Amino acid sequence: MRVRITPGSRLRGSLAVPGDKSIAHRWLILATTAQDSSHLLGVPASLDIRSTASCLARLAPKGRPGLEAWSGNGAATPHGHGSTWNAQVGGAPDALLEVEGEGWPGLAEAAENLDCGNSGTAMRLLAGVTAAAPFRSVLTGDESLATRPMERVAEPLRAMGATVATTDGHAPIVVHGGALSGITYATPVPTAQVKSAVLVAGLRAEGPTTVREPAPTRDHTEVALAALGVPIERDGTSVTIEPFQHRGFEGRVPGDPSSAAFLVAAAALTGSELTITGVGLNPTRTRFLDVMARMGVRTEARVDRTELGEPVGDLWVAPCEGVRATRVSEDELPLVVDEVPILAMMATHAAGDTWFLDAGELRVKESDRLAALARGIADLGGAGGVEGDDLVVAGAGLTGGTAYAGGDHRIAMAFVVAALAAGAPVEVDDVGVADVSFPGFVPALVALGASIEVLG
Ligand code: S3P
Repeated sequence: MRVRITPGSRLRGSLAVPGDKSIAHRWLILATTAQDSSHLLGVPASLDIRSTASCLARLAPKGRPGLEAWSGNGAATPHGHGSTWNAQVGGAPDALLEVEGEGWPGLAEAAENLDCGNSGTAMRLLAGVTAAAPFRSVLTGDESLATRPMERVAEPLRAMGATVATTDGHAPIVVHGGALSGITYATPVPTAQVKSAVLVAGLRAEGPTTVREPAPTRDHTEVALAALGVPIERDGTSVTIEPFQHRGFEGRVPGDPSSAAFLVAAAALTGSELTITGVGLNPTRTRFLDVMARMGVRTEARVDRTELGEPVGDLWVAPCEGVRATRVSEDELPLVVDEVPILAMMATHAAGDTWFLDAGELRVKESDRLAALARGIADLGGAGGVEGDDLVVAGAGLTGGTAYAGGDHRIAMAFVVAALAAGAPVEVDDVGVADVSFPGFVPALVALGASIEVLG
């Protein structure tokens, strides 16, 4: 899908964003491995979540009907080698996803490969699940996922006792799971995916499992495990759990703050006031609001409930009179890792240079995001570049042009939002890839008042 954005519109209104991808992956896994049934609302229709649901359907005979109805019974990739899928089922925020669990012993060898599509979180978390399941599983993914590093998750799972073979460090991954022992593992890079894979496997290990991180990362796994009664101790950046068989649960997946970030930026760049309702406000996910506050964007977040331990509420964005440059330090980066694309594109409109320090992890996301950002900024008439592992963006404005998202959902959305404040119309190609995390992204902006024409 190619779109043309005409800058200059004001946005107005209030809306909800699709459910949180990170939380939904975890809840689907925990529902499938629970002892009895779970009832989930707000599970997003995003392609990544359909991939996880379809893999779990293959592993869990009893959970299969609910999971298959959700996943459309096929791998979900932005370039669509999946099957047709009923948007009515997965798309409606109030659609109920019921997953029947039979505990960990209810998992069975899948007849087919587990196709994780475009999703690194699906692949790494499912590596943890299959490491604890006493049979052979093969995890595959699309072209982008097959380039991403997988030894980082294979190594600790081997140390726990699973046999895990990567393909030169990448997917496909062949896992022979079985009896595991708890370990103490220090992750060399801050990564919530690896931490979560080890903790999930630790639910079935003999003895306690500890993960230590070099810097804090999102803690949705720890939050959910604690809410499910798993014995868990947290101390700074260290977490220890004991093996546990959890029961089923109920919850509504909070709106995805990483999707909300695009709308906050859109409001800020157009001087608009906006309310985003029912969004996840877990502090390990809202650090981007602190960065945006330094850039001059005033927001107010009000927690009004919790869902399986996760804080949820509304987020209000005040009209902004212009954005400023900032510096995102190496300590802060892991907590805004998914928001760097939108923060960087906002920074093209800031007065001064914005730095993102030690951002090398962005090279191994859905695309090489440092290269994609530098290229897109140049294509749209802005200025910025990569210096070692740092990204610097000059607040020179965007003069307009055409940019290509390169199969990366967050890059696509960041280009579209930055275009709302460009000096001339902008075209962005490959915007359909936004469905990976934010189905309905373009219609949502149009409903708020943005001038975006779909060219085909
Ligand atoms: C995620 C963790 C992050 C993030 C990804 C989702 C998760 O990846 O970039 O979008 O759900 O655990 P890393 O753990 O590789 O940093």
